Amino acid sequence: MARVTKPPHLRLGLDDCYAIIVAMTREILVTSALPYANGPLHLGHIIEAVQTDIWVRFQKMQGHQCLYVCAEDTHGTPVMIKAQAEGLAPEALIAKVAAEHQADYQGFLIGHDHFHSTHSAENRHFTDLMFTRLEAAGHIAQRSVRQAYDEQAGMFLPDRYVRGTCPRCGALDQYGDSCEACGATYSPADLKNPSSTISGTTPIWRDSEHLFFALGNFADMLREWVASGALQTSVRAKLDEWFEAGLQDWDISRDAPYFGFEIPGHSGKFFYVWFDAPIGYLGSLKAWCERHGKSVEHYLNPDSSVEMHHFIGKDISYFHTLFWPAVLHGSGFRRPTAVHVHGFLTINGQKMSKSRGTFITARRYLELLPAEALRYYFAAKLGPGVDDIDLSLEDFVSRVNSDLVGKLVNIASRCAGFIARGGGQLSATLPDEALYQEFIAARPRLQSAYTARDYSLAIREIMQLADRANQYVDSQKPWALAKDPTQDEAVKAIATQGINLFRVLMIYLAPVLPAMSAKASQFLGVPLSRFDEIDQPLLNAPIQKYEALATRLDPKVVTQLIDTASSANEKVKTDTPPESGKPEISIEDFAKLDLRVARVLEASEVEGSDKLLRLTLDLGDSQRTVFSGIRKHYAAQDLVGRDVVMVANLAPRKMRFGTSDGMVLCASDAQDQLFLLSAEAGVPPGSPVS
Ligand code: 2FM
Ligand code: ZN
Repeated sequence: MARVTKPPHLRLGLDDCYAIIVAMTREILVTSALPYANGPLHLGHIIEAVQTDIWVRFQKMQGHQCLYVCAEDTHGTPVMIKAQAEGLAPEALIAKVAAEHQADYQGFLIGHDHFHSTHSAENRHFTDLMFTRLEAAGHIAQRSVRQAYDEQAGMFLPDRYVRGTCPRCGALDQYGDSCEACGATYSPADLKNPSSTISGTTPIWRDSEHLFFALGNFADMLREWVASGALQTSVRAKLDEWFEAGLQDWDISRDAPYFGFEIPGHSGKFFYVWFDAPIGYLGSLKAWCERHGKSVEHYLNPDSSVEMHHFIGKDISYFHTLFWPAVLHGSGFRRPTAVHVHGFLTINGQKMSKSRGTFITARRYLELLPAEALRYYFAAKLGPGVDDIDLSLEDFVSRVNSDLVGKLVNIASRCAGFIARGGGQLSATLPDEALYQEFIAARPRLQSAYTARDYSLAIREIMQLADRANQYVDSQKPWALAKDPTQDEAVKAIATQGINLFRVLMIYLAPVLPAMSAKASQFLGVPLSRFDEIDQPLLNAPIQKYEALATRLDPKVVTQLIDTASSANEKVKTDTPPESGKPEISIEDFAKLDLRVARVLEASEVEGSDKLLRLTLDLGDSQRTVFSGIRKHYAAQDLVGRDVVMVANLAPRKMRFGTSDGMVLCASDAQDQLFLLSAEAGVPPGSPVS
């Protein structure tokens, strides 16, 4: 084996270098994508917030000054339209939604240092400043754009607000920019029979002056920035494709009426929501700096030593990896240190969908289950790449129950009793120092894994250690020794060893399980707040009575995450308005439906569901039980005797309350009000409908 001789002038060993690197305090600004203020948070938002929060908590545990800011993304047409529909001022809608979002984030233990709003003085300051600088530097162009205009509503229509027939495949009721049936992308001008989703009228085409950000001016700078290692390999490959395709100017203006900031010097023009949304990161930072007496320039000047990390989903990469660094640079500010992109969340292997009942809101989850179970599961699945992450409900239950309850918490619960019996004080020495050393030797590997956002690797390693700890206790059999009073000290020492191994694991897991580690800290009587606390074992110290740190998940409760009322049946309604996105079907397809007139014999409310009614239906020659999600729309007693239309050959569907054997048909209006379809009087029950 070759020997390496240390040069005499080199005094530092690897360990010393490591210690120095660890000792250097970094300043790190972190963001996750700003949630849009027109709807509730769902688990897709939560996985990103959890990924970010774990990283931030880890950095803080390393002693770094890490600042996590976020904000409500408030501007644009969807917020304006939704506020109108709810009879609210946009500001009132934003305030309501922001309060709900923040409660949800808190429920999931997301530790934002500051949560702000893009509709704020701080954001306006940076938006105006950055635009003015870009314009002065010649990065803003102006030219006329022809766009769909709704004369009745008096507004230009974003592409998504125009619907019509796909010019390629003829599918009806498609969006103005793409067809959900055949995947074609086009401009709204290509749609056949276009209509405005706001007034239902046919739009006209009108020209208007728009302002464009000249992204192409930044191509060289962006290539250089990408080469600095700011992006994951697969994201970098995507950028190479975009560079290849050429960087187009970006339209950053919208015409009134628009809920947003008016563009300085361009009366009647407003900043497009996507222009001021990422600037919202800086607005939030500014608000935090003002409250803490710090200088925001310190974070933003081009030579700043502060790192800036953005966590986002892959759908918004273009905005964050091209526009955003270019806008920052063109305004004289620093560029991001890194943009960390994650994949989409799927539920049981499929895209989240309202019609399948898998659009799980953060609130729904929190009503049913503990936040840390999901934090743990997400951590166990999250790697450093952009692959989609699946929440398989069955796997979720078994993983949480086996790892957190069966392995981790089990170590403490099985050892704590022996310490309590021995006076509540840990022993003065560890009986197996080597095993303790094995546990603390994992620290640099775990630090690397957390740093690289490879949480699944960290969790795997931590759970292997948990297995080792349990094997240790199993092999020592303290419960057997405890029968012999002469072995009291030995029993206490074994339990001391177990508790110390547990302490190390809880420190390693503190970024993922902050509440559980806080409870464990009370139990142990010491903080669990830094990785270097494990250098010394906890000896000769009193510990508190053990109280359960985690409980098993009940699979029946987990099943309730899926909204059976949406998925089982009952409404013709889908995520999108009627017909939208549905492919054309043949007459043979239609003939497969066994539609019948059915008379409601009995109707009753279903205990435990605020959506369902249980209907007993007469089909002439047989009776059926159907659960229908119409409880909010009909009183049970009003339905008895009514003749409705049902799908009689729908596969029976097992629900929590029984089996639903068919589906009654409803129509829904724009406010989601449901209307049962009825048969004309005199048509006997059981009659086929065609
Ligand atoms: O995609 C979204 O939901 C946006 N509201 C994200 C904005 S992130 C940032 F740019 F503000
Ligand atoms: Zn099409």
